[in-house]
Amino acid sequence: MRNIKEIVSQLTLEEKAGLCSGQDFWHTKAIERLGIPSLMLSDGPHGLRKQDQSADHLGINDSIKAVCFPAACATAGAFDRNLLQQMGETLGNECQAEDVSVILGPGVNIKRSPLCGRNFEYFSEDPYLTGELATAFVKGVQSQGIGTSPKHFAANNQEYRRMSISSQVGQQALREIYLSAFETIVKEAQPKTIMSSYNRLNGVYTSQNEWLLTDILRKEWGFEGYVVSDWGAVDDRVKSLEAGLELEMPSSNGINDTKLVEAVRAGLLEESVLDLAVERLLTVTFDYIDHRRAVTWDKEADHAVARQIAEESAVLLKNSGILPLSASQKIAFIGEFAKKPRFQGGGSSHINSFKVTNALDEANKETKIIYAQGYDVTEQTDDVKLRTEAVEVAQNVDVAVLFIGLPDSYESEGYDRTHMSLPQNQTDLVEAVTAVQPHTIVVLYNGSVVELPWADKVAAILEMYLAGQAVGEATVNLLFGHVNPSGRLAETFPLKLEHNPSYLNFPGNGRDVDYQEGIFVGYRYYDTKNLPVAYPFGHGLSYTTFTYSDLKVSKDTLTESDNLEVSVTVTNSGTCRGKEVVQLYVSNQNANHKRPIRELKAFDKIDLAPGESQKVTLNLTPRSFAYFSEELNDWYIASGIYNIQVCRSSREVICETEVRINSSQALPFKVHRNTTIGELLEQPNCQSITKDLMKRIAASFGDHNEESESSAVSDEMATQMMSSMPLRALLSFGILTDDSLEETLIALNTVVE
Ligand code: BGC
Repeated sequence: MRNIKEIVSQLTLEEKAGLCSGQDFWHTKAIERLGIPSLMLSDGPHGLRKQDQSADHLGINDSIKAVCFPAACATAGAFDRNLLQQMGETLGNECQAEDVSVILGPGVNIKRSPLCGRNFEYFSEDPYLTGELATAFVKGVQSQGIGTSPKHFAANNQEYRRMSISSQVGQQALREIYLSAFETIVKEAQPKTIMSSYNRLNGVYTSQNEWLLTDILRKEWGFEGYVVSDWGAVDDRVKSLEAGLELEMPSSNGINDTKLVEAVRAGLLEESVLDLAVERLLTVTFDYIDHRRAVTWDKEADHAVARQIAEESAVLLKNSGILPLSASQKIAFIGEFAKKPRFQGGGSSHINSFKVTNALDEANKETKIIYAQGYDVTEQTDDVKLRTEAVEVAQNVDVAVLFIGLPDSYESEGYDRTHMSLPQNQTDLVEAVTAVQPHTIVVLYNGSVVELPWADKVAAILEMYLAGQAVGEATVNLLFGHVNPSGRLAETFPLKLEHNPSYLNFPGNGRDVDYQEGIFVGYRYYDTKNLPVAYPFGHGLSYTTFTYSDLKVSKDTLTESDNLEVSVTVTNSGTCRGKEVVQLYVSNQNANHKRPIRELKAFDKIDLAPGESQKVTLNLTPRSFAYFSEELNDWYIASGIYNIQVCRSSREVICETEVRINSSQALPFKVHRNTTIGELLEQPNCQSITKDLMKRIAASFGDHNEESESSAVSDEMATQMMSSMPLRALLSFGILTDDSLEETLIALNTVVE
């Protein structure tokens, strides 16, 4: 049995400081005399980006040939924990074979704005979905003895000034929206590492934010691994170590190691802080060493996994009945992406794919496809010649399939988009083709939502997102119905950018960015405001149909610590096999401040043959009913009625029932000079003092002229005025004096406790 504390005690101060930063771009340091190895960490997250030479973290130089899986923007649509776990297992095995100790992902930042340049690497606008899928991914990778690094912790929701901007986020939004997925991953899957982000959070760099890295992450959630900085994120090394950041990457060429040594020598940093950091690092290091296995990996087999994931993740946004295609039809594929698909994003997640398939070659294996380029993806200029050719082709076929989407230059790590439009030459192509061909289908290859002003004019839209290197087979299998689409949108497609809740506060002023929309992110905003959207969160069609019946809850009344089982029977009422995502939302309209109209709290994905039925049971926990109360600085469950809604999307409730929660939790109530009579009336213990005050108020207004009172002051008005009157106003009306107000406050605060 290895004694890590003992190893730490044998290290010199310089060695300990040295272990807290990288040897080079991708490796930790070795101390050979004590058997401490140098380990490799690599990107991630949707493939192995192992660089041997010419290291860089921006995706500029090549890495080894590997398999590019669909990016998180796509995999989120699968709404399938098992699939994400399988993806994690496959990647974990690749890491084990390639001696990579930690894969840097998953990326779990919330899609606050559709413009964030890295949205393609993130899962969703919804924290529950993000947390569930990322947890499954982490479990999968780590089951192979490989570490993960959920990133970027936290509130890194844009690329603009990502290394210095301060995300100004209120506590409620932080806990409910921006920290929630990290919390789930830590509690459910104990990732070996967590990557702190570049940005500041409420003024403090996350890499040196003690509240975030120690109070919340370790003390509250119980994180046992180590925190690694994003590459180059450390500002003040001593502060960051004290705050709880163990590993600085890549390295500061020894500068920061020296600062740590000097700080200890000068008595400015406790050596025990350094010891603990090294102990945590070595625990993860040796855990990897103890789980080393000789494994091989088969690129073709992993390509097949990537294909299956792409197929399960794609979202059929619209289908007038034209899909699936039949090989007997005369079909044209139009658009450069049919031949040269966009299947991944740019930057640190860029994978050197060992092969890439395209829809044109794959479909030509089924039937003869006529091809027209339609637009030039690199130029994006108005190419009349290409468009004219495409229109001619479209006119002479039964069906035209348009392959469009975002070029690489439109979305990437390092910068944000400024608009949500497709390139003009692609939009023009859609307009021109739909003018001559009513049977037009659009296939989208993009990493984040786009405006679809022409949606009404096309017969079907298949959203593939960035589907990885097996994109060609996956697209064709879906188009021809060899696979039934089963993905659901993990983000709302708003009609226009201006409708997004962060619109007025994105990307901030260069110094800070104010998350003024609070918890109203994504569908929580669009749905609560009842704004029309292009396609709602959770939306996705199938080639079959599903019906729901027999919604039941395990109890009608619960306390704040009870779980609730919800069951519903789902039947495949169509003619082909298909997968359905059962989505369960909770609607809490009890809180004394505004809540989203409904929030996703459970989901499952099931596979049904035509005519087959299955009872699906979903579990809700106390957290499903809670919100984060800033007054309590804790999660709070209010008493009242909660609607339990089974939905087809966040906009379409299929069936619902309600439960009552009798909660013994109470929000703290402190009586002060501005507490109103109305607020006091809601406090059972304050009734007698309050009623007495009310009598005195009524008496003080009581002797005025009856006639003028009835015309100028209605009963309703009198009641409302009394109810909103603060205690201090009683001084002005001679009901209380300074002294008696103080006494009343003391008396009231005594009874409310
Ligand atoms: C990115 C991280 C990535 C790291 C290493 C950074 O620029 O933000 O997501 O893991 O580089 O490549």
